[in-house]
Amino acid sequence: MFNTKSGIENWHLQSTVHHQIKLLPISRDYLAFSPDLVPTSKHDLTLKLGREGQRRHQAYVALAYNEFTVWLEDDGIAPAALELATQPEAFGLSPDDALFCRCIIGDEAMHSLKAAHLRNAIVATLDVPPEVTPRPHFLWELERILASIDAEYRGCTRVVFANVSETLITDTLVKLPHDHRVDPNVRTIMHEHAIDEGRHNAFFRMVMKQSWDRWNADERQMYGPMYARFIRAFLQPDITMIERGLCAAGLTPDDAKKVIRECHTGESATAGLRHNARATLSVLNRIGVLDHAASRAALVAEGLID
Ligand SMILES: [Fe+2]
Ligand SMILES: [Fe+2]
Repeated sequence: MFNTKSGIENWHLQSTVHHQIKLLPISRDYLAFSPDLVPTSKHDLTLKLGREGQRRHQAYVALAYNEFTVWLEDDGIAPAALELATQPEAFGLSPDDALFCRCIIGDEAMHSLKAAHLRNAIVATLDVPPEVTPRPHFLWELERILASIDAEYRGCTRVVFANVSETLITDTLVKLPHDHRVDPNVRTIMHEHAIDEGRHNAFFRMVMKQSWDRWNADERQMYGPMYARFIRAFLQPDITMIERGLCAAGLTPDDAKKVIRECHTGESATAGLRHNARATLSVLNRIGVLDHAASRAALVAEGLID
């Protein structure tokens, strides 16, 4: 169980907000992202592009990833943490928990700043056109759900969304800092983000459990199935961005479509989705959401469990 008191008392020691903030440039001598984390990097057609094509492909992936992070922190997590900070009793949280949510808002603001810096550095250094990145799929899904329910339920819906994204442990944050082909300044920023998310993860696991324990039958029926929709929305690959990146790296549109078809559909795609969702699915299982019929049916419908 997360110890909020210690989280507050040690925030100045544990949060990377307190590290010296260095928005350092990146170098053309390194990759901007780890090919090991990008399924399309391993396809024969992508490998045939050679070193320069690979470098451009990873630059595009990094651009999309950092853009995604800025949207997530600004429009997904910070509003949810503010909801928890201002309505703690609705989620069974203590005044200390509410205060810790403001620590989280501080962390996320810094993650957004660093991701925006990396986005700009990639455009300036790696010859990637500063195209406007489409809003990520998860935000459309969040807004669709918010628009379909009464105003009084929207704050809690935002928290359910944050419960998902804050409990998923993404391979990117964990593994990218260890790939020495990637620019050292990118690796440092990702490593610091991973440190902060470790604490957020523990806190939001506690929020997930307390929310579920407090909800009555009607609330469980409304919020429970949202977990499946948000997990799917959050982890679903952004095909438009992937195709754009492959074409920027040198593939023809037809070859890009073939690579995507072979890397992002079928059984391996479903296995990848479940693998990436495993941390959140494990919390849902532990707190009893998988025993709730409508919530379980939604997870099955999204292909997240059998
Ligand atoms: Fe973050
Ligand atoms: Fe976070």
